[in-house]
Amino acid sequence: MPVVDVKNLVMRFGSATVLKDIDLAVESGEMVAIMGSSGGGKTTLLRCISGLHASTSGSVTVDGINVIEEPELARTRMGMVFQSSALFDFMTVFENVMFGVRRHSKEPLKDQRQRVEIALERVGLKDEHHKMPAELSGGMRKRVGMARAIVLEPKVLLYDEPTTGLDPITTYTIDELMARMRGELGITGLVVSHDVTSVMRVADRVAFLHQGELAYSGDKEGFLKSEHPAIKELLTKSSALEFAR
Ligand SMILES: Nc1ncnc2c1ncn2[C@@H]1O[C@H](COP(=O)(O)OP(=O)(O)OP(=O)(O)O)[C@@H](O)[C@H]1O
Ligand SMILES: [Mg+2]
Repeated sequence: MPVVDVKNLVMRFGSATVLKDIDLAVESGEMVAIMGSSGGGKTTLLRCISGLHASTSGSVTVDGINVIEEPELARTRMGMVFQSSALFDFMTVFENVMFGVRRHSKEPLKDQRQRVEIALERVGLKDEHHKMPAELSGGMRKRVGMARAIVLEPKVLLYDEPTTGLDPITTYTIDELMARMRGELGITGLVVSHDVTSVMRVADRVAFLHQGELAYSGDKEGFLKSEHPAIKELLTKSSALEFAR
């Protein structure tokens, strides 16, 4: 059974249909990239999967839980890495990661603290735990966001543009970290990204949304050879054609 299963998903805002009959199944341990034109519906799809938006019709299940009927329960299976990192600026790195643990875990404080320490170690921020967000680089902020997303050991990680705005070297380290989350922890991933190079590195499959429809869903090789005009345009403008050879 797929860990994430989206079926006939339709999302409307007023009279605008933003997602049109989307089907997407993600198997355990897989990493799927959601790409697409601006306004194509990527963030909306991620929000429907995470239970932040109730879809107009269709179904979404995560780890067998119906996200529309039981969003709170489903959210315990997911970690989300936000584009903006969304850190609390008045809390230290440690406190930022601890925040959700205090809210959602009933373990003794000692075990909760250990959880946070392990998560920070996993993202390479063990020695930065006392710092304030303002003292961190953009890449470090992303890593705090990742520690926060994994600290409660989710089955699924949802990344919204984790590398947008980062330089190529930092992008590489974030990509490596995403690959490790998957390799070491076996976490299933969905990543919204514009970055073709990054997607080629981390993803197994690509789902390309164009004007609310899945213009392509399949392996990377097929994606690179797609004749869809929006995909061709993205590939040409990303100058990632070397991958297509
Ligand atoms: N809360 C909302 N209310 C009304 N319309 C919305 C809402 N959220 C998104 N939309 C509309 O849905 C469409 C898809 O938006 P979405 O943010 O999912 O696109 P995207 O693919 O993530 O684009 P980008 O690459 O620019 O981030 C857009 O036309 C947008 O205006
Ligand atoms: Mg978006």
